[in-house]
Amino acid sequence: MAIQWTEDLSVGNTEIDNQHKELFARVNQFLDAMNQRRGKEEVGNVLKFLESYVVEHFGMEERYMIRLNYPEVSSHKEQHKIFMDTFREIIKKYNEKGATVDVVIFTQSRLGEWLRGHIPVIDKKLASFLKAKNK
Ligand SMILES: [Fe+2]
Repeated sequence: MAIQWTEDLSVGNTEIDNQHKELFARVNQFLDAMNQRRGKEEVGNVLKFLESYVVEHFGMEERYMIRLNYPEVSSHKEQHKIFMDTFREIIKKYNEKGATVDVVIFTQSRLGEWLRGHIPVIDKKLASFLKAKNK
């Protein structure tokens, strides 16, 4: 089981696209670590690795938005917050139940859905704005 970055998710900005690909890769590492029933410590490390990347990636987008007075900064940031809430819910579930099938499915479906909903609409809008600003 994996989530997949596909060409239709390209926002036309290489930096953002590359970060999205990396984000998908790290979500998949987490799913793999759970599916392979790796130890708590190892899965925990993969989870931290994913979390730090999410924070870094959202931070990059938000810095661009603030610096360039992006008009939709608050609604975009709100979407990132929703992701973080879901992500924390996943961490909580994993800590409580471990790598159960339902935690794996929950992770894959909720993060996959969010990414497929957010990237081609919200991030694409931001990327078009950046392009217009020659960023
Ligand atoms: Fe975003």
